[in-house]
Amino acid sequence: MQSMVVILGTGGTIAGVAPPGASDLAYQAAQLGIDALVAAVPALQGQPLEAEQVAQLDSKDMTHALWQLLARRVAHHLARDEVRGIVVTHGTDTMEETAWLLQRVLAPAKPVVLTGAMRPASSRQADGPRNLADAVALAQEEGAHGVLVALAGAVHGAADVRKAHAHRLDAFGSGDVGPLGRFEEGRLQRLRAWPSGDGLGIAVLDAPPATWPAVEIVTSHAGASGALIDALARNGTRGVVIAATGNGTVHEAIELALERAAWAGLQVMRATRCGDGAVLDATGTGAAWPAAGALSPAKARVELLLRLLAAQQGTATSPT
Ligand code: SIN
Repeated sequence: MQSMVVILGTGGTIAGVAPPGASDLAYQAAQLGIDALVAAVPALQGQPLEAEQVAQLDSKDMTHALWQLLARRVAHHLARDEVRGIVVTHGTDTMEETAWLLQRVLAPAKPVVLTGAMRPASSRQADGPRNLADAVALAQEEGAHGVLVALAGAVHGAADVRKAHAHRLDAFGSGDVGPLGRFEEGRLQRLRAWPSGDGLGIAVLDAPPATWPAVEIVTSHAGASGALIDALARNGTRGVVIAATGNGTVHEAIELALERAAWAGLQVMRATRCGDGAVLDATGTGAAWPAAGALSPAKARVELLLRLLAAQQGTATSPT
């Protein structure tokens, strides 16, 4: 019988503390352990939960090594018959990247729910406890699967979710397609289907993180030059995501540099630097390089990294 929810702590503002009297924005992330976060939520007491501290960091400092460790811990717990779902507490700043990594690697048949907070645990308006309670409820939801993000009463899928606001409590959105569901009075109202797609498998992350291919993001903008691309090609970078203008268009100086970089085997992917909307197939400037669809530039970087890792291992990748 599956009833257990495993909560993996990684830090973030949800585990943050501000000094007495300080503003809610002047806090230190990743101060409280996962046991303390669970103990602060009355609705979770007496529930079949396990908590494990996987990391303790401000998610702006997320590393490939921690991604490898987290993905392995999630895969380990997903394989346990008694586990119904997983919750990961995570900083909001790179949550969308971790969500996409876990979805593309594991494509879990059980729910893996990332949650966090926009106010530290010490705040009088702390949003973490409500978010954590919702995330656990989502991890227990009948039929739920895939990697999900639960924050501010909304449920997002890993492919569409973006952090869209710097400090509002409801900082996350799913753009044009909207959230997968919403919690209303503690009950989930589902609006769209759970995430689907095949996973690459945990073995795609097996290589030592120090050997993972370097993948960078370069923004196309007015007055751009090809200097960054030239430098990346020279220093052995394997992939570059262009945070492109509009529907994936690229400044001609960057295009020329990308053509020059062909000798270096640099793999290119185009995402839009617009806050919303997918890059649709079109002809014209930049169209020679694959488009990242609705993935944000940061998530497109994860996608390109995984494709390069899979190619290194000879594993086929399926389109997103
Ligand atoms: C972080 O991403 O770890 C800090 C910011 C946040 O959680 O909102």
